Amino acid sequence: KILILDFGSQYTQLIARRVREQQVYCELHPNDVSADFIREFNPQGIILSGGPNSVYEEETPRAPQVVFDLGVPVLGICYGMQTMAAQLGGKVENAHKREFGYAEVRARGHSKLLDGIQDSVNAEGHGLLDVWMSHGDKVTELPTGFKVIAANDATPIAGMGDDARRFYGVQFHPEVTHTVRGRDLFVRFVRDICGCRGDWNMPDYVTEAIEKVRAQVGKDEVILGLSGGVDSSVVAALLHKAIGDQLTCVFVDNGLLRLNEAEQVMQTFARNLGVKVIHVDASAQFMGHLAGVTDPEQKRRIIGREFVEVFQAEAQKLPKARWLAQGTIYPDVIESAGAKTKKAHTIKSHHNVGGLPETLNLKLCEPLRELFKDEVRELGIALGLPHEMVYRHPFPGPGLGVRILGEVKQEYADLLRRADAIFIDELRAADWYEKTSQAFAVFLPVKSVGVMGDGRTYDYVVALRAVETQDFMTARWAQLPYELLGRVANRIVNEVRGINRVTYDITGKPPGTIEWE
Ligand code: XMP
Repeated sequence: KILILDFGSQYTQLIARRVREQQVYCELHPNDVSADFIREFNPQGIILSGGPNSVYEEETPRAPQVVFDLGVPVLGICYGMQTMAAQLGGKVENAHKREFGYAEVRARGHSKLLDGIQDSVNAEGHGLLDVWMSHGDKVTELPTGFKVIAANDATPIAGMGDDARRFYGVQFHPEVTHTVRGRDLFVRFVRDICGCRGDWNMPDYVTEAIEKVRAQVGKDEVILGLSGGVDSSVVAALLHKAIGDQLTCVFVDNGLLRLNEAEQVMQTFARNLGVKVIHVDASAQFMGHLAGVTDPEQKRRIIGREFVEVFQAEAQKLPKARWLAQGTIYPDVIESAGAKTKKAHTIKSHHNVGGLPETLNLKLCEPLRELFKDEVRELGIALGLPHEMVYRHPFPGPGLGVRILGEVKQEYADLLRRADAIFIDELRAADWYEKTSQAFAVFLPVKSVGVMGDGRTYDYVVALRAVETQDFMTARWAQLPYELLGRVANRIVNEVRGINRVTYDITGKPPGTIEWE
């Protein structure tokens, strides 16, 4: 197993992920954990993360000396390399010219860490590696025993290594995907140099996660807002396994869910898994407050506010609850950290269960905080959740409220639910569901003229939207086959009375957003 010491980099979790990808167990701890803890942990290797500080300033964090005394391999990344250099007798200085973004480094000499890991080879036969850099300081003198293993003009010591002690440092960030061969570097370090076997897997993670939750909440009761989405579903399954009846889920039906969604959630969790789920049908309350409201942001605010209200009322009925469980995953953690520092325009005010107020007086239990989406899915499968639930497209918190343009009406929601279900049905049948990242129907409250049989129709329009995306920040419209689109349009117009026209949205993001409101 690997110990990762965190010096405060934004990417520390990514390091953990790269190690887990090798099916090697790792734990992430602050850089100032005690020497005893490190000895007891008994790591096969240690990774020192990057961090925002400057090594040459006073009182900036250091790695505990024991890291270098244990006789295990150590990999320092960015600040981790700098502190390693400084602590072992080298020198670190301000780089004057900061290096930020893509860079190319040249492999120098041979090292167990980098040999054969390259994107291309230059005329002199040196391996060239495309890497991602982000630093203002650099190592200017090697500690004894080290040699340069990577260099470029801006950073003559971009990598250093001591094969005898198995200490390595890299100035670039192998953990980010922009460093294309970064993964190979982790394989090399974790598997080859540290000798970790790679036999850790999701079922092991389940066991560990269950123990962690038990240790965290003890005998206390926990409350969870279950939405039926992937993240909250996985939390529900995990907590149910860990603490059984100490968990109560609250499932709020706001009247803006997909067809049969409430039924499916109750089936999967309450009936199949035996989870305690309180099903609150609050659709009348939501619809009531939405009546007459057409502004998208106002609609979002109302739906968010009502959710909190309903949830709070339910929480008050459970006076013994001490914890609020949430399906926060790692990208949410980064996003909200970024949101605090960045002054971005509010395009849409997102609403999540995360917006629940502090007045609930509950402590937070967020067992997925360290995981990426694909890991959450793997965990869901390991916990026995159905494939369709775990690989479901995301669904926005305000639900159909942002897919019915303008005023939300019961009639519109009912029409949209049926049209949407047909679209999803056909996508699944044609094996296109999992090739798209998100797909849904949008209700347009305008009427157009049509002809069916010999009669004139004058009915509403539905737009279909399907996108492909990695991170939902940018997206391409999915090039669905014409026959598939044709089938969907036919079925919607034939089966959903009240809709006589179907269009397909071919706008990317940007300039469009994925949802229409
Ligand atoms: P947009 O429309 O901004 O959507 O391109 C990007 C992704 O976010 C989802 N989305 C939401 N998710 N609460 C959520 O939990 C919200 O208020 C919300 N609004 C949009 C959207 O479905 C897409 O996946």
